[in-house]
Amino acid sequence: MRIGILGAGGMADALGTRWAGAGHEIMISGRDARASAARAAKMAEMAEAAGMPGTPGITGAPGITGTPGITGTPGAPGTTGRVTAGSWAEAAAFGDVVVVAVREAGLVDVLTASGPALRGKPLVDVTNAADPAAYDPARSPALLIARLSGGHVVKAFNLCHVDVWRMRPPVFDGRPLAVPLCGDDPAALAAARTLVTDLGCTPVDGGGLARATQLEATAAFMIGLWFGGADAQAVLPPLEWSGAHTPA
Ligand SMILES: NC(=O)c1ccc[n+]([C@@H]2O[C@H](COP(=O)([O-])OP(=O)(O)OC[C@H]3O[C@@H](n4cnc5c(N)ncnc54)[C@H](OP(=O)(O)O)[C@@H]3O)[C@@H](O)[C@H]2O)c1
Repeated sequence: MRIGILGAGGMADALGTRWAGAGHEIMISGRDARASAARAAKMAEMAEAAGMPGTPGITGAPGITGTPGITGTPGAPGTTGRVTAGSWAEAAAFGDVVVVAVREAGLVDVLTASGPALRGKPLVDVTNAADPAAYDPARSPALLIARLSGGHVVKAFNLCHVDVWRMRPPVFDGRPLAVPLCGDDPAALAAARTLVTDLGCTPVDGGGLARATQLEATAAFMIGLWFGGADAQAVLPPLEWSGAHTPA
């Protein structure tokens, strides 16, 4: 798949490097063409190195396993996709799917500069509110992106810190990370599911795009807990204690 990424920061780097490792063609974009090109070159190098046997994944926290060279996730040597950099409009035109990975403050400018290429395309929105403490449901980045671009937005990847997306693969206590997806368009959701599974994660149906605001609120709330030093994962019970679930 050709993946255009609006953004050349941490999220573009982490996700783009993993997807290049899985064989996708990546084009990132930022405000500084030289810095973006340098980052793209580094991403290509990292994606290639990750496919080398014996290259460890990110480890370092108890219960986190980075599996080196897991089949179907990082590419084997020579199977990584190309990583290039372009303008916002070039990345928008390049992608079969376009990932929006810019700061909230830049969204309007970046979407305007991306031009009409986004119309009707699958767009994966990873953004969060700039200040989770001041989260405002009336200012949903996902709904703003849908309105300004005319693309088919799927909200995803916004619940976890960038370092999680660098893991190969994100597995905690033996359980692959589940990634909720909120979107309306079947083709865009299918593309997003592929991007999730190519990281070694499990896609979860999070409902339509209207529920993206809930995903954004969840991120803001969880980030608040994490920054307060709480284990946000511990606040939710297992499925069998969810009340709503009737085992088959
Ligand atoms: N970092 C995380 O742990 C994490 C996790 C989940 C979701 N997110 C969300 O993902 C998005 C990207 O995060 P990131 O960590 O990749 O951020 P980052 O490293 O700071 O990169 C931000 C990107 O946005 C671009 N941008 C365009 N207009 C901008 C403006 N006016 N002000 C600031 N940046 C502007 C930057 O362009 P240049 O390249 O020219 O600087 C850069 O490419 C954000 O919405 C963030 O909330 C982040």
